[in-house]
Amino acid sequence: MNNLEVINYGSKILKLNNIDSYNLDSELLLAKVLNTTRENLLINLENDIKLNIFNNFLKLLERRIKKEPIAYIFNKKEFWKYKFKVNKDVLIPRPETEIIVNETLKLTNAKSRKNFLDVGTGSGCIILSILKERSNCKGTAIDICKKALKVAISNAKMHHLENKIKFVNIDIDKFNHYKYDFIVSNPPYINNVDLKRLGSNVRLYEPLVALKAGVDGLSEIKKLILKSKKLLKKNGKLVIEIGHQQIKFITYLLKKNGFYVNKICNDIQLHPRVIISTNIS
Ligand SMILES: C[S@@+](CC[C@H](N)C(=O)[O-])C[C@H]1O[C@@H](n2cnc3c(N)ncnc32)[C@H](O)[C@@H]1O
Repeated sequence: MNNLEVINYGSKILKLNNIDSYNLDSELLLAKVLNTTRENLLINLENDIKLNIFNNFLKLLERRIKKEPIAYIFNKKEFWKYKFKVNKDVLIPRPETEIIVNETLKLTNAKSRKNFLDVGTGSGCIILSILKERSNCKGTAIDICKKALKVAISNAKMHHLENKIKFVNIDIDKFNHYKYDFIVSNPPYINNVDLKRLGSNVRLYEPLVALKAGVDGLSEIKKLILKSKKLLKKNGKLVIEIGHQQIKFITYLLKKNGFYVNKICNDIQLHPRVIISTNIS
């Protein structure tokens, strides 16, 4: 069989198994076992495939049929302008989370010397993307999950940022260090009912601790806001991602705790997704 025939074969199997991105995924998986890029694969469609390569392709196909996300199969995900290592201990970085990075960069400039705290760092994608672009800034990244921090540390090394960032394995509730100019966070915000409705790619593979936030989906955001009040300098900024139905309550909670709400950013589906506020108390 040649590359084209194998792609078509994989595509057909994935489609039969209800994988929406069947064509793209088949190409990506074949490129992976050939250790090449998708682009290179597509200009060499006539090349014949060796049996061992085909068998490796079948193994990856099997994983994808079971709904394992491509990012976990590849152990990497692109976020902002960079690649990050991911595994099942961390949430796969989402495009909407890039809003946090974009807005934070707008609030700083290349010469800024700010101190950042990232709460629930996971792969480290938020804080590392910011520090990559703001070379005079430094950061602390915390996560309740030790295994997630291992991934973040490895990403910090990969991006040569290990000297600019400290990692702490702790619950935000118990963290009492220092005063920060910025707190950035994409906390867990899925309520118990919605958790059961998530697609099997998320439910079966992504870490529960990165998603679940109690009966109302607000357990971790409440902790984060209360703690940020203490951890932020006066006029320090809090930039957080939220669930789109949480905007009213979170705006209320921020105001009640001495924050001024500066901006609410919508995601691509026009849902309120990131809220930027200032500690004015
Ligand atoms: C939604 S994930 C975000 C990961 C990453 N920042 C991103 O945006 O892709 C939330 C992260 O918060 C961590 N986490 C959950 N509860 C926490 C808590 N109480 N204190 C600190 N970290 C927590 C989880 O382990 C997980 O890595």
